[in-house]
Amino acid sequence: MTSQEEAKALIQLEICKPDHVYGYFASPLRYPGGKGRLGPWLSTVIEKNDLRGGWYVEPFAGGAGAALYLLLEGYVEHIVINDADPLIHAFWQSVVSETAAFVDMICRTPVTMGSRARFQAVVANPEGHSTLELGFAAFFLNRTSRSGILAGGVIGGKEQAGAYKLDARYKTDDLIARVRAIGAKRERITVLGMDALDLLLDCSPGFPAKTLLYLDPPYYVKGSQLYRNFYQHADHAAIAHCAKLAGHPLLITYDDVPEIRELYRGVRSSDFSIQYSTHRARPVASEVLFYANLHLPAPPTLTRGAKLSMRRPAAPTLRSSAAARA
Ligand SMILES: C[S@@+](CC[C@H](N)C(=O)[O-])C[C@H]1O[C@@H](n2cnc3c(N)ncnc32)[C@H](O)[C@@H]1O
Repeated sequence: MTSQEEAKALIQLEICKPDHVYGYFASPLRYPGGKGRLGPWLSTVIEKNDLRGGWYVEPFAGGAGAALYLLLEGYVEHIVINDADPLIHAFWQSVVSETAAFVDMICRTPVTMGSRARFQAVVANPEGHSTLELGFAAFFLNRTSRSGILAGGVIGGKEQAGAYKLDARYKTDDLIARVRAIGAKRERITVLGMDALDLLLDCSPGFPAKTLLYLDPPYYVKGSQLYRNFYQHADHAAIAHCAKLAGHPLLITYDDVPEIRELYRGVRSSDFSIQYSTHRARPVASEVLFYANLHLPAPPTLTRGAKLSMRRPAAPTLRSSAAARA
């Protein structure tokens, strides 16, 4: 190995250190409607309501970007990642409990249409596959599908004729760093695969008093197009009923439609746009945030990924790495 190659390898190691994963970028999953960018705003809610150092629970966790932001940035002591989709649950279970094996699978798996077909077959017949195989299949399909929708088409199309190929959102080093960062905090992460209603009814009474519950259920209108598990009206109504009885500080986000406004009548709310705090040209989708047992310091805002990424320490240059070793 030449000294330049050695220095390059060193940089690679450096970049893969868990410490280099921050905020929104912490989730290895791409998630339709993902709320990772709500993380900084959630941190202000935590600060203003004296919830720092407590627990943060997401009964509909999906990509869990906000939960990971709060844990990795030190705002909360413990997070609960729950999702009823067996594939999403298998993904979190294997990343948290079998981190090294998961990383090994990332390293060994070629990002090809052949691999994708193999993982589609795993997902179609989950019986007989280990949690790791299921979790990795979910991850691979998520990263190679348009918008991260598991049942969606492959990035670049079947012919792979476009400028973007299926590996456009599959940057191996970066994904390994995210997985390792999560594994390094495994003692402070609880992964569950329960129905959210059961979690709220059976488990939430046992959570510490300093717990923030954040519910992000499937969208009322488009949920069936985006997620494998989606809700009927009665399910949304059951969650609303349960939320109104919750004893913990609680936040709920929804698409802003009359049916949801009606279910949450009497609960305090704040309008909320899927618009980044510094990017006003983007089309706006209206959502609504309901809250209980806490004080809102400001209306919710999503922080742009680029803004969060400025907190990353600069990667060492070839020169400084070599110098550090000399
Ligand atoms: C709107 S997404 C959550 C997105 C998440 N907040 C994020 O930032 O990635 C809703 C999630 O709820 C899950 N889900 C659907 N029905 C559920 C149920 N009955 N119990 C728990 N999770 C459920 C879906 O699998 C999906 O991952």
